[in-house]
Amino acid sequence: MAILQNKTALVTGASKGIGRATAAALARAGAHVLVHYGRSTQEAESLVAEIQTKGGRATAISVDLETPEGASLLAKKVRSIVGDRLDVLVLNAGISKAARIADYTVEDFDSLFATNVRGPFFLVQQLLPVLGDGSSIVAVSSAVARTVVGKPDVENPSILAYASTKGAIETLVDRSRSLRHSLQQTRLRGSRTILVAEVHPA
Ligand SMILES: NC(=O)c1ccc[n+]([C@@H]2O[C@H](COP(=O)([O-])OP(=O)(O)OC[C@H]3O[C@@H](n4cnc5c(N)ncnc54)[C@H](OP(=O)(O)O)[C@@H]3O)[C@@H](O)[C@H]2O)c1
Repeated sequence: MAILQNKTALVTGASKGIGRATAAALARAGAHVLVHYGRSTQEAESLVAEIQTKGGRATAISVDLETPEGASLLAKKVRSIVGDRLDVLVLNAGISKAARIADYTVEDFDSLFATNVRGPFFLVQQLLPVLGDGSSIVAVSSAVARTVVGKPDVENPSILAYASTKGAIETLVDRSRSLRHSLQQTRLRGSRTILVAEVHPA
């Protein structure tokens, strides 16, 4: 039997790139995959069709995670599909921007933090009640959270603000390990262990 048979997984930003590959892999392992996306309807639907053609289960869900209400809207849609149990949550959706420090705008900064940090934070908040014992949360960070890339200089374009969003995500993941212990001490859905991990591609 496939290892994730009868399990459900949500991958944010699954229409393209790393999220798409992750969603396809989870489907191959037997999970019913919720393919979240923003604007790329055609790509998301083609992934769902691809998974279904191979005998897997997948459902596409579009929600803009940059908006203040995006995370709770996505959580509501997810819960209407999976009911009271989500087994895997992959926080992958993200945006990047390279610019000279002088050229960054407040809108750029807010957009990066809204999509890469606020969205994942409130998605976890909203889905926590349905992440049962043995479930997993995986956040996609980046090596740039800890490594200097290129030759940062005030005259060169840099990804300083983007790198800061990934630093914030890594802090959230790190602090969530103690959250796990405090959750176990509550009677919230009884005792449960949620694996919280991060990956940081180059
Ligand atoms: N690629 C790399 O080299 C690399 C390296 C290190 C870390 N990462 C991290 O890995 C993750 C995926 O990167 P990628 O390169 O695979 O990304 P990508 O190909 O650009 O795809 C980004 C995904 O995120 C979704 N997304 C972006 N903004 C959104 C929003 N406001 N609302 C909903 N969905 C949104 C996109 O959906 P739509 O297109 O449907 O709108 C798309 O599915 C990101 O967190 C990134 O920071 C990537």
